Amino acid sequence: MDIRIGLGWDNHRLAEGRALILGGVRVPCEFGFDAHSDGDILLHAVTDALLGALALGDIGMHFPDTDPRWKDCDSSVFVRHAASLVRQRGYRIGNVDATVILQRPKLGDLRAAIRANLAALLELDPAQVSVKFKTAEKVGPVGEGKSAEAQAAVMLIRD
Ligand code: C5P
Ligand code: MG
Repeated sequence: MDIRIGLGWDNHRLAEGRALILGGVRVPCEFGFDAHSDGDILLHAVTDALLGALALGDIGMHFPDTDPRWKDCDSSVFVRHAASLVRQRGYRIGNVDATVILQRPKLGDLRAAIRANLAALLELDPAQVSVKFKTAEKVGPVGEGKSAEAQAAVMLIRD
């Protein structure tokens, strides 16, 4: 059995009047991501973790943020593409574990929806997808509400 791990990280600035979308799920909030695409840091971190496990570079290589095609793009496109590369190379995803670090609002009520959507995008069972939430304890740019971060780890298996 061939097993590979991947690690992804992303952050974006927060700005008023933008949508806050995490794992493809709209978070009711007065601010959102100031980014070229929809800024979905969770999907970007998962995409980079999948690409990393395959040693296929990073999200910016596959989807340059200078390309107008990806302006305000739904980040589902990125994660679906990475998942298709996983399948093309004969791997399946064993599990995904991710953390979103956002000072506010609390995201716990959206956990089930985010897990379900991420699982659907990756063609997984929600039991294979973990999403955790943390504040930054009011410290640093994340803690001051200027930005948010996401981290993701994935395991790929080829039988
Ligand atoms: O950062 P802290 O350890 O204080 O977070 C405590 C708990 O609050 C987390 O374990 C998580 O369940 C929840 N949380 C959340 N939404 C956030 C940050 C934290 O639901 N934006
Ligand atoms: Mg704590």
